[in-house]
Amino acid sequence: MRWDDPDLRWAYALLDNLPVPYVPTRRESLSLVFEALQLREGDVFADLGCGDGRVVAEAARRYPLSRALCVEARFDLVEKARETVEEAGVGDRVLVVRGDFFSVPLRGVTAVYMYLLTSINEALKPKLSRELPEGARVATLDFPVPGWRPVKTLGDPGWQRRVYLYVIGVSDR
Ligand SMILES: C[S@@+](CC[C@H](N)C(=O)[O-])C[C@H]1O[C@@H](n2cnc3c(N)ncnc32)[C@H](O)[C@@H]1O
Repeated sequence: MRWDDPDLRWAYALLDNLPVPYVPTRRESLSLVFEALQLREGDVFADLGCGDGRVVAEAARRYPLSRALCVEARFDLVEKARETVEEAGVGDRVLVVRGDFFSVPLRGVTAVYMYLLTSINEALKPKLSRELPEGARVATLDFPVPGWRPVKTLGDPGWQRRVYLYVIGVSDR
């Protein structure tokens, strides 16, 4: 049986009780996210909990990323994200994975985006420190990574207006 067999929807529906709800990043906030991450040629970019795929699709459309990874637990959003990246014409460089971001391997990822919650950012810290290379950038919207020192804080206080930028090997030491 394939993981995306429609007969498995009932099982995936159980996953809908996730601690982080689906709230998409507004298009207006994307510039701030990209200003923080400074994506460049050769970057491998990942959005952990990528929703409808809008952030990875736009990142791959605007920048010469080598690859982008969209990790999402919700079956319906995974389907939507696949449509989004195809419509943006970046399906050859973006991999949409239905899975739990706590278990998807992140080795080789050089830039990460997370629009999650402070408690989930906290729980992801050991994985990010362990798997991301030194110098990898991690940008979070609205919610900081507790205990990590941001190298930059962009924007203003307010909903979807503040981005925290962290660098592995600097912020997490
Ligand atoms: C606030 S939304 C952000 C969506 C997208 N990153 C954006 O900015 O438009 C958080 C997303 O994380 C997903 N999510 C929550 N827990 C997850 C997990 N353990 N693994 C993968 N995705 C998860 C939710 O389904 C939701 O789509």
